Amino acid sequence: MINKTKQTGTATLNVKGKDIEFPIMSGTHGPDVVDVKRLYAEAGVFTLDPGFTSTGSCESQITFIDGEKGILLHRGYPIDQLAEQSGFLEVAYLLLNGELPTQNEFREFAGLVTQHTLLHTQMDRFFDGFRRDSHPMAMLTGTVGAMSAFYPGAMDSSDPEERNLAYIRLIAKMPTLAARIYKYTQGQRFVDPINELSYGENFLRMCFSVPAEKYKISPTLARAMDKIFILHADHEQNASTSTVRLAGSSGAHPYAAIAAGVASLWGPSHGGANEACLNMLREIGSVDRIPEFIARSKDKSDSFRLMGFGHRVYKNYDPRATVMQKTAHDVLDELGIDTPILRVAKELERLALEDDYFREKKLYPNVDFYSGVILDAMGFPTEMFTVLFALARTVGWVSQLNEFIEDPSQRIGRPRQIYTGAAQRDFVPISDR
Ligand code: SDX
Repeated sequence: MINKTKQTGTATLNVKGKDIEFPIMSGTHGPDVVDVKRLYAEAGVFTLDPGFTSTGSCESQITFIDGEKGILLHRGYPIDQLAEQSGFLEVAYLLLNGELPTQNEFREFAGLVTQHTLLHTQMDRFFDGFRRDSHPMAMLTGTVGAMSAFYPGAMDSSDPEERNLAYIRLIAKMPTLAARIYKYTQGQRFVDPINELSYGENFLRMCFSVPAEKYKISPTLARAMDKIFILHADHEQNASTSTVRLAGSSGAHPYAAIAAGVASLWGPSHGGANEACLNMLREIGSVDRIPEFIARSKDKSDSFRLMGFGHRVYKNYDPRATVMQKTAHDVLDELGIDTPILRVAKELERLALEDDYFREKKLYPNVDFYSGVILDAMGFPTEMFTVLFALARTVGWVSQLNEFIEDPSQRIGRPRQIYTGAAQRDFVPISDR
């Protein structure tokens, strides 16, 4: 139940000589908030906070991040414990429902997801409209946006049963969609899911099995895939999650809201950073070129930044990067791959963390720094990396969307502005200009 904040003080703001008091509210962990919703009504002024560096958009009970300490909790559970001890579908249940499932609850949830992994056959024809060299994120944005055309039966976000069915369909069908996108880019036939396989096993088989030979499941790679999905599942009010909440605030159905989230995630400053990071590691190519790129990333006249480094919230190690680096070693050992990319990544991390610029600005590796190394070693093309991020983040998006819908204090999101354009003036006919 949302609305578990409690007032622990007041803040007084003097606006044009008038003192106005605002409640200071506290939650379970993290900074208190000043509730300013009455500011405009009482003082006729707005707050202004481009990038929302000091602005909370909602109360949430799903994910907590402590950027200074490098802590990430999902419903109170530390991300490293979930990554090491849980499974992606179990974390999906936790994010959606607030508690870890019992064995029966998990069996029922996993069974429900399994029943919805197939796609409407006419969706397959949807792919024929794309060029083979379309960017996978272009195809994902298009196909997720089209889901409401194929599953019109459950779209009313105000109906708990309908929206829960839409969430299950999205969680279940994202791997099938993502695998079809990969196969389409490869010019290979689509592979359908098999119900007896786990979520991670199914996805890898739909991507990499070919009719000509029996596909051998690798438990290590399936476990690594599942762990990568867990590490990307949710992350508080990031850009794409805020996009989902804002889209959903108009009453737009879950498929439309998630499609908006997919589009927002694509940006290189956000989910597109994993693709950009691997391209950067490839461009660096060898450890002796690292100083050149570190110098460029500090040069204000150069737009180059170290992709996979820095974070709006983490001013310490992103705890996901730590787990991701260990997973990279597991996967590369399993595959017997000795890629120079991992050596470049580790040396780049070491040199950057010794550099005053990065230390002063508290720039550390984030979730995207090592993920690309693993996905590349598993055989995914770089352009597929953000699709996998979106696949995993879907459980976070639907959980956050649902929390928004069930929050009685929430209404349509409609930020204001400060206007600095032309003062009011009368129209001048073109004959007089
Ligand atoms: C994700 O929000 C989330 O939770 C996102 C995410 C999730 O799970 O949803 O965690 C996933 O998006 C991770 C971030 C992936 N993006 C990248 O790796 C792209 C590279 N990183 C940067 O573009 C940047 O660090 C951001 C976008 C992540 C954060 O940007 P901010 O918070 O707006 O910080 P900023 O751009 O104002 O940078 C502060 C300073 C600047 O220098 P000054 O102007 O103060 O002199 O740090 C510098 C920046 O130039 N800086 C970097 C840098 N990141 C910031 N300098 C070099 N290389 C970098 N990577």
